[in-house]
Amino acid sequence: MRKLPFDKAKLEEIAARWPTPFHIYDAKAIRENAKRLKKAFSWNKGFREYFAVKAAPNPHLMKLLKEFDFGSDCSSMAELELAAKVGNAGEAIMFTSNDTPADEFRRAWELGAIINLDDITHWESVLDAVRPESFEGRVFCCRYNPGPLKGGNAIIGKPEEAKYGMTRAQLFECYAKMKAAGVTRFGLHTMVASNELDPDYIIDTARMLFDLVAALSAETGVEFEFVNIGGGIGIPYRPDQQAMDLSMVGEGIEKAYKETIAAAGLKPLKIFMECGRCITGPYGYLVSRVLHIKNTYRLYAGLDACMSNLMRPALYGAYHEIVVPGKEDCGETSVYDVTGSLCENNDKFAIQRMLPVLAPGDLVVICDAGAHGHAMGFQYNGKLRSAELLLESDGSVREIRRAETLDDYFATLDFSALED
Ligand SMILES: Cc1ncc(COP(=O)(O)O)c(C=O)c1O
Repeated sequence: MRKLPFDKAKLEEIAARWPTPFHIYDAKAIRENAKRLKKAFSWNKGFREYFAVKAAPNPHLMKLLKEFDFGSDCSSMAELELAAKVGNAGEAIMFTSNDTPADEFRRAWELGAIINLDDITHWESVLDAVRPESFEGRVFCCRYNPGPLKGGNAIIGKPEEAKYGMTRAQLFECYAKMKAAGVTRFGLHTMVASNELDPDYIIDTARMLFDLVAALSAETGVEFEFVNIGGGIGIPYRPDQQAMDLSMVGEGIEKAYKETIAAAGLKPLKIFMECGRCITGPYGYLVSRVLHIKNTYRLYAGLDACMSNLMRPALYGAYHEIVVPGKEDCGETSVYDVTGSLCENNDKFAIQRMLPVLAPGDLVVICDAGAHGHAMGFQYNGKLRSAELLLESDGSVREIRRAETLDDYFATLDFSALED
């Protein structure tokens, strides 16, 4: 059974001030985890994690991660603006986008971000959008898609079927073009995994990039400053899964680095990552209350949260552990479909899950909702996005995003046009 950073009494105290549903993040655990990641790569001078803003686009969480010098991996205009607002400008931003609109390239350029090209045609798009007078000091990067050269991953699928990145041949051409245009600072990026729990997959990805840096440097004369091995480190959503041992990943990548980059006598390379899930995922919880128990062909526990608060179960059939504070050891159990109130039959947080016997009013905690959780929210059925709270290291709680109101929902509508 999952150990929570709060008990029933504390949660009831929080819920008295911020009505359920809400997301709550554990600041202490996020900080400890950030330290673990940095320690695992302390052998690499210049190592940097660029937190994938899309995973939890909350400036208070981004600011907390900035304490550890985490940059921001942005993929859209809003994410660029969030990064700027927390003081992550310049090379603290990695702009890894795809199918990118011109105004986003322009904003990334204005902010001095590292621009990561998803496609060879995007080089011309950047030139058109920015019309740069000089590339002095500017860093460019290309996203590699290894296609059949790398095995598939459960969520992203087979690289050759993924829309992201350039082929190996296109990389050689793109770096040569950029160099000819006057770019002098380069990196190389890939992101081939999502929610991957096998450390060897991540280590092999780094090795693949190291080998490619050696080949690209030899053929194009480009000197690389960094490789970005992407995000995609998984978390143990299921009780039988093991968290990835970050120190093992760090050691494996260090060995690969020595055998490739160091052995080839290439200039030292910085290692970048852009993880989201493994940074905040296990340390965020969706807290909800049972509204109804319904007994028809199955037993249903209807919550006041729905898939607009956490759509991973509906979208991917994902498993999220559910804890019922105060009833952990009650012994009496039943099997439930745990549902929300959307008019969609896949609005279920769990299907046929054995849980302590539930009653209306019970608080339930849906675990591992700290990444790609609140962020994926939507307003279908007129559902409003819930609040986000931060449980500080001293046990106090702070609102880091208020809940939406009906006024927010209607804010883009002009009702006056209906009046006659
Ligand atoms: C380009 C890119 N980088 C980083 C991430 C973060 O992935 P994760 O949260 O699995 O680490 C994603 C996830 O969608 C992504 O698309």
